[in-house]
Amino acid sequence: MIDNFKNDVDEGLSKSKKTLASKYFYDTKGDAIFVEIMKMPEYYLFNAEMDIFKNQTQDLIDNLGLEKKTFFELVELGAGDGTKTKQLLKKLNDDGYHFEYVPIDISQNALHQLETSLRKELPHVNVTKRQGEYFKVLSSFKDTKALKVVLFLGSNIGNLLDENAQRFITSLSESLNTNDKVLLGVDLIKSADIVLPAYNDKQGITKRFNLNVLERINRELRANFNLDEFDHVPEYTEEEGIAKSFLVSKIDQKVTIGALQKVFDFKKGEKIHTEISRKYNDTILNTILKDSHLKIISKLTDSKQYFADYILEKV
Ligand code: AVI
Repeated sequence: MIDNFKNDVDEGLSKSKKTLASKYFYDTKGDAIFVEIMKMPEYYLFNAEMDIFKNQTQDLIDNLGLEKKTFFELVELGAGDGTKTKQLLKKLNDDGYHFEYVPIDISQNALHQLETSLRKELPHVNVTKRQGEYFKVLSSFKDTKALKVVLFLGSNIGNLLDENAQRFITSLSESLNTNDKVLLGVDLIKSADIVLPAYNDKQGITKRFNLNVLERINRELRANFNLDEFDHVPEYTEEEGIAKSFLVSKIDQKVTIGALQKVFDFKKGEKIHTEISRKYNDTILNTILKDSHLKIISKLTDSKQYFADYILEKV
């Protein structure tokens, strides 16, 4: 794991246009900052998807074609604390649906916390947690006959480049059987005056989130980044529909990374690209789905039309 991190940092900072992968934001501290982000007034994504889960729960169930008499597995990829999903679980449980909830996460700790809170809040829901990489876990139970409904919420797919999202969707499709469903939550393309503040909040929480990757390199790879000498700079245009985050060097500086035994030069104004957050519309999503056997069968949006939960079916 640490070797991947080391190699990726080396490769990313050696490019003429420097990059660091956003997956490295999520250490214990990064996870905690992301929880703060989800509570920020500017970060509309969370509230918008929550609006759908809270106020259109029955529509979600109807559009997924779920029936009380047919058992299904409700699988969630990267469940987090499950706040949104709990709305759906409660309704399914109260109305007598026959199902099992299967959260999949790489983090055993996240799964344990989710299971504990579910046992307290929804003690009658059957939960089988599965730790590991999404596709390894999914393919391990491909042969079960039960209908699967896979939740991938929060516009998490948006942190992948389109070609990687396409590969992700194709792998997901391959691990499903005909008629299985996917509930895919994505942020919709909208104007910069709404999107940019979500990635550039006044309190500086997103700035801390972005800078945390440098702090992690300092700690885990024995580097000497001075966090005060980097700015957090997001960019977004509605035409492109992709929010991008950068760390920008405020001065000419040299940084030593002990674990690599290397010194990296940063010019004043030089950028490190750290994250993309793709926003979608039907056309972009259809391009991503095109090589898979997943088809859009319906789409639910929040009251402000900021966010969409697409329902996909394996055909
Ligand atoms: C996890 N992911 C969907 C978030 C996003 O909106 O791209 C991560 C994030 N980055 C900055 N703020 C939130």
